[in-house]
Amino acid sequence: MAKQRQRWGSKLGIILAVAGSAVGLGNFLRFPVQAAQNGGGAFMIPYFISFLLLGIPLMWIEWTAGRFGGGFEHSTAPGIFHSMWEKNHFIKYFGVIGIFGPLAIFIYYTYIESWCLAYSVFAIMGKYQGCTTQAAMMNFLQGFQGLTQNEHFQGLWAAYLFFVITFVINISVVYYGIKGGIERLCKIAMPALFLFAAIIVLRVFTMGAPDPSQPAWNAVNGLGFLWNPDLSALKDAKVWLAAAGQMFFTLSVGIGVILTYSSYLRKSDDVALSGLSAASTNEFAEVILGGSIIIPAAFAFFGPVGIVEVAKGGAFNLSFVTMPVILQNLPMSAVFGLLWFGMLFLAGVTSSISLAQPAIAFLEDEFAVDRRKAVWIFGIVTFILCQPVIFFLGRGVVNELDFWAGTFCLVVFATVETIVFAWIFGIDKAWEQMHHGAMMRIPKVYKYIIKYVTPVFLLLILGFWLVQEGVPTIMMKGVAQADRPFVLGTRIGLILIFSTICILVKIAWRKRKMRSYS
Ligand code: ALA
Repeated sequence: MAKQRQRWGSKLGIILAVAGSAVGLGNFLRFPVQAAQNGGGAFMIPYFISFLLLGIPLMWIEWTAGRFGGGFEHSTAPGIFHSMWEKNHFIKYFGVIGIFGPLAIFIYYTYIESWCLAYSVFAIMGKYQGCTTQAAMMNFLQGFQGLTQNEHFQGLWAAYLFFVITFVINISVVYYGIKGGIERLCKIAMPALFLFAAIIVLRVFTMGAPDPSQPAWNAVNGLGFLWNPDLSALKDAKVWLAAAGQMFFTLSVGIGVILTYSSYLRKSDDVALSGLSAASTNEFAEVILGGSIIIPAAFAFFGPVGIVEVAKGGAFNLSFVTMPVILQNLPMSAVFGLLWFGMLFLAGVTSSISLAQPAIAFLEDEFAVDRRKAVWIFGIVTFILCQPVIFFLGRGVVNELDFWAGTFCLVVFATVETIVFAWIFGIDKAWEQMHHGAMMRIPKVYKYIIKYVTPVFLLLILGFWLVQEGVPTIMMKGVAQADRPFVLGTRIGLILIFSTICILVKIAWRKRKMRSYS
């Protein structure tokens, strides 16, 4: 007897799950730093153009294509692409990116997420209390990461312990399936996350000027620092690439996870309004909440000159070094520390479970592996793959994974899926699918945007990006000589993972063919 397909329990459930996948560390850490480093308010011009011409179309494409593929019992990109372009035998191998990408991101994302859990506990225990300068807090962080030995940590055991706890939480959630695990968690975690973020924003804007001799150093002027447009930045292709890259990362489009989530929809379920709602929820969390925490708070403490240095330090330093220093200066710092890192952890876990699901769904759908067994296989394999990230953290492994899985694959995947959807499947059929069961009519102009503008925009990004960033990274420009073997090792590991999934796809399709003959 055919196995009953998993389904979402409610419309709100899937919107929260997709929004949960989208709202992540990217919203609170990556976005403000990208904006501050790329022209401030001017960054928002390419950012909103990317939202309108890439983000929203890709959301609708993925929700529609996923639901369509789900109708053929496929939850992952190889099968979904194949159901949209049956005659082409090669397209399923492009779909491999939709399993490989999330799996590779999961490997480093869960480790970083575990730091948020660890720091939530440290905040309550007062463990970093007393590290009141950025240098002292950096020393604390590096001790925790096992990069140095110091008075705070001897070895990696604390980081490893929190990683194992985080990993087990992730695996347990997916073990209970779409409705019993992912949907249930997101229904609790998402409102909690918004509440925590709102409290922190309120705290940042009510703290006034921490240094009485510098009344202009306050959060409101911090907003000015973030949003004052430097229009000359718009002439720089890098700024446009950064905005488009942030759009992919933050909305979780081009990764394959939304395809998988929406494959559990029924054919009559709405995708038009739901896709737009999930995307808008993410933008609210990013621009309104994400833009109102770390940069304004850091500006109030370090002033207009100090903030430039702080923003240059990047997203991780802002979160794990600058923020704990700032929080220690506030009354009830342990509570606010818990809220900040707790919020990041919730944002992280609702994203990482979505990264786990495609590989699990692939085993279930294409190899008829029972869900629990599929989760075990995924758990064991990814646990092993996480080890180099933990033990070789300072050796460029994370950057390498992020480059291939978190940047390159997203753009390639999005380009292929848009072309398949709009040109092969056909925009007329696609448009009709998008409106099947729809609770809103999509403005007609999007028919043309999806067919012409989005693919051209994507091809341009791909081209510029390959020249500007791709080639130097492939040539390992800027990688220290001593780190090169590690970076190369990561690259070889990624090729092996990708090839293994390709072989699995080949086996699955051969089996399918044999079944259809018998
Ligand atoms: N979309 C997720 C984030 O923003 C991956 O972190």
